[in-house]
Amino acid sequence: MARARTVFVCQQCGAQFAKWLGRCQECGAWETVVEESVAPRPATGGGGGFGGARTSVAIAAQRAAKPRALSAVTSESHARIRTGLEELDRVLGGGIVPGSVTLLGGDPGIGKSTIGLQVLAELAKGGLTALYVSGEESPEQVKLRADRLSCNESVLILPETCVEEIIGHVAATDPGIVLIDSIQTMHSRELTSAAGSVGQVRECAAALVAQAKSTGKPMLLIGHVTKEGTIAGPRVLEHVVDTVLHFEGDQGGGLRLLRAVKNRFGPTNEVGVFEMGERGLEDVANPSAVLLAERPKGASGSAVLPTIEGTRPLLVEVQALCTRSALAMPRRTTLGLDANRVAVLTAIVDKRAGLKLFEHDLFVSVAGGIRVQEPAADLAIIAAIGSSASDTPLPEGLTLFGEVGLAGEVRAVRHAETRLREAHKLGFTRAVVPAATARQVRAPDGLDVQGVATVLELWTALFGGRRRAAAAASRQHDDAGDAF
Ligand SMILES: Nc1ncnc2c1ncn2[C@@H]1O[C@H](COP(=O)(O)OP(=O)(O)O)[C@@H](O)[C@H]1O
Ligand SMILES: [Mg+2]
Repeated sequence: MARARTVFVCQQCGAQFAKWLGRCQECGAWETVVEESVAPRPATGGGGGFGGARTSVAIAAQRAAKPRALSAVTSESHARIRTGLEELDRVLGGGIVPGSVTLLGGDPGIGKSTIGLQVLAELAKGGLTALYVSGEESPEQVKLRADRLSCNESVLILPETCVEEIIGHVAATDPGIVLIDSIQTMHSRELTSAAGSVGQVRECAAALVAQAKSTGKPMLLIGHVTKEGTIAGPRVLEHVVDTVLHFEGDQGGGLRLLRAVKNRFGPTNEVGVFEMGERGLEDVANPSAVLLAERPKGASGSAVLPTIEGTRPLLVEVQALCTRSALAMPRRTTLGLDANRVAVLTAIVDKRAGLKLFEHDLFVSVAGGIRVQEPAADLAIIAAIGSSASDTPLPEGLTLFGEVGLAGEVRAVRHAETRLREAHKLGFTRAVVPAATARQVRAPDGLDVQGVATVLELWTALFGGRRRAAAAASRQHDDAGDAF
């Protein structure tokens, strides 16, 4: 059989070259040329893909398929493999689907290898043959971790980076589950480029996915996240695999969020919460309590927001710090929030509530390393900024959510009742919400729900209105030059 040869293909225009080029000679784009292997053309024809390049295993796998009526397709219910880690099963939609390929991405040190080993150990305990392919760490290093985690030692370990060898070993040992740690360290003999390059990562992933699909055995791929936040640089891997899980969290703190970014067999945006401890990652049943555990009492600049992660409510603390700036261009720094959103909200409170911050540095963050993207955080952000600027702590037991428009109007957001129930569960007694929500929502007993229609109404409710706020502002300015 003819050996596969390699070509260099521009990812933008599809032009092929015999050697690597920094700039595509066809379309002029920079750094878009990637090495690909071309499968030898089968005698029966077929194959295909871009210019015959083996770009998609799905195409190859489906080559032998024939069209048939959708009604004739039996929907086999996927017997899922439960991992024994409740939160992971929840994110996956009930467990690992046989033959599925899951990509687990995240920053270095976040705990990808740890969770991978824990899953394999749990499954091995249940009698499954589990194969850990380590391209990054030696078997001794993995053993050290296994000892620390008190993991079952019946996990098979294979220190190997050549994907052809791995496929051979997998075929020989026939494991029930395979973990590849990590896909960036793997290389294929078909390609000349270095391990970790776009072409290599894609080729290796495609070969491994093809094997998982043909054997029906699930595979977990660990991938590093580049600075741009994409897995393996380009997003190519995300299309090849069935599920993409993303590990995130604050490295200093112990809390880790596992998020399903893509899931062909379950819900996306579902979130699992873990805590990293000496014995590895443990499920966190009540993350809100953990997140609020260290909240300062009676401090200004702190507001509690019931946010929704996937389908699950999570109480997080939004913190703001507003100080007099020594700079001509005051600083605006955010952590866990969108900086542009905070800038817009600062402009809205300036215009609608008279809070002038042009001589102040402003720092806004979400405690616990959580990232909040939803606009429902607007009211809490404004309340935290106002609280810090006026040095007025918000009332104990208060929580807020709601979106704010440019005209200063407060808009309703989804999942209001879920948010209120979570706040009530954690002992909160008062919620400031959009007026439309307050009219419709059925609040839990013991939770006082107050609707606000505008930012000014919010301001009046929390800080006594525009005039008093302005007075506090000038007073503070004269005193310590601290805020407002
Ligand atoms: N002795 C230890 N005790 C507690 N936690 C540890 C210990 N050693 C490592 N860790 C935790 O494990 C993390 C590294 O996990 P790891 O699974 O190797 O990450 P990744 O594979 O994502 O790079 C560290 O950031 C740390 O939080
Ligand atoms: Mg690792």
